[in-house]
Amino acid sequence: MAPKPEIIYQAPLQGFTDFTYRNVYQEVYDGISKYFIPYLSYIRGKEIKKSLLKEILPENNKALPAVPQVLFSDTTELFELVSILVDNGYNEINLNLGCPYPMATNRGRGAAWLEKPEDLNETLQQLFAKEFPTKFSVKMRAGMKNNQEFKPVLEILNQFSLEEIIFHPRTANQMYDGKADPSLFAEALSLTKHPLVYNGDIFSVTDFQVLKTILPQQNSWMTGRGLLMDPSLAMRLNGEEMEAKQRKLKLKEFHDRLFLEYSDRLQGSGHLLTKMTQFWSYFCESFENPHKAMKLVKKSGNVLKYNAAVVEIFRNF
Ligand SMILES: Cc1cc2nc3c(=O)[nH]c(=O)nc-3n(C[C@H](O)[C@H](O)[C@H](O)COP(=O)(O)O)c2cc1C
Repeated sequence: MAPKPEIIYQAPLQGFTDFTYRNVYQEVYDGISKYFIPYLSYIRGKEIKKSLLKEILPENNKALPAVPQVLFSDTTELFELVSILVDNGYNEINLNLGCPYPMATNRGRGAAWLEKPEDLNETLQQLFAKEFPTKFSVKMRAGMKNNQEFKPVLEILNQFSLEEIIFHPRTANQMYDGKADPSLFAEALSLTKHPLVYNGDIFSVTDFQVLKTILPQQNSWMTGRGLLMDPSLAMRLNGEEMEAKQRKLKLKEFHDRLFLEYSDRLQGSGHLLTKMTQFWSYFCESFENPHKAMKLVKKSGNVLKYNAAVVEIFRNF
C-alpha cells in the first residue's frame, strides 16, 4: 500500500509570507495544502493597516488555497475582523491563540487567551451563536507561561465545531527558546476531539523523520521557518528526492521571481534590498557557509552589487 501523503501547511509568518511570497511559492514549488495568511488585526483602537487588508484581498490570493487568520482581544474586534473576511469570501478562518509577542499579549491578544479559558469560552459561545457562514480553526501554543495551560483550553475547544487545531508545543514565554516538545503534542492529541496539526521546528527531512517515529499516526504538519530556509522542504517531506544541486537551482529560480515581483511592488531600491535581505536571513541557511553568504548580501548596498553577490553565493557557496 502506498504511504499516506503528508499534509503540509505553510505557516503564517508576518513580514515574510505575504501575498507576493505565497503566489511565487505556488508557481515555483509544490506540496502545500493550505497557505495561512499572517494575522489580520487592529492597531491602536480601530485601525487596520492597509498592508494587512491587502493581504486578504481575494484577487491577491486567487490561485491559492489560502486561510486567513485573526488576532483579537475581545468579541468586538473578533466579530468585525471575521465579518471583513466573510465579506471577502473566505470559508475558513483561523483564530490566533498563540502570538507570543508582548505587544499582542499585553492587550489580551494571541497567547494571552490561553491564560483565561473562561473568557475564551464566553467569546467562542458568542462567536458561534452568530452563525457566520464560515468554518473556524485555531492556532495555539501550549501555554502562555506554563506548558500545561493547553489542557483546560482544549477542553473548552472540544465544545465547539472546529475544522482543526494547529498546535505549537512551546509556551509563549519561551518565544523560540528550547525545542518544540512532541510529548506535549501527544498529550494534546489524547485530550482533543479535533484534528490536530503539528507545528514547530521542522527544519529538515531528518527532523521530520524523528517526529514520525514519536508520532507515527500524525500526518498533518505546518512549517514556517524551515520552509523559509529551503522552500523545497514541503516536497521533500512527501518523499520527493531532490539533490543539493537541484534544490539550489530551484531556490535560484524562486529568488529571481521574488526579486522581480518585489521590484514591481516596492518603491525604491532601498525597500527592495531590505526585503530581500530579510529573506536572506533564512535563505543563507541553505548554503554551506550561511554567515559568509549573509555578510555578502548585507554589505552589497545597491542593486548592482546585490545581484553580483547573489550570483557569487549560488555559484561558490
Ligand atoms: C517572523 C515570524 C512571524 C510570524 N507571524 C505569525 C502570524 O502572523 N501568525 C501566527 O499564527 N504565527 C506567526 N508566527 C509563528 C509561526 O507561524 C509558527 O507557528 C512558528 O514559527 C513555529 O513554526 P516553525 O518552527 O515551523 O517556524 C510567526 C513566526 C515568525 C518567526
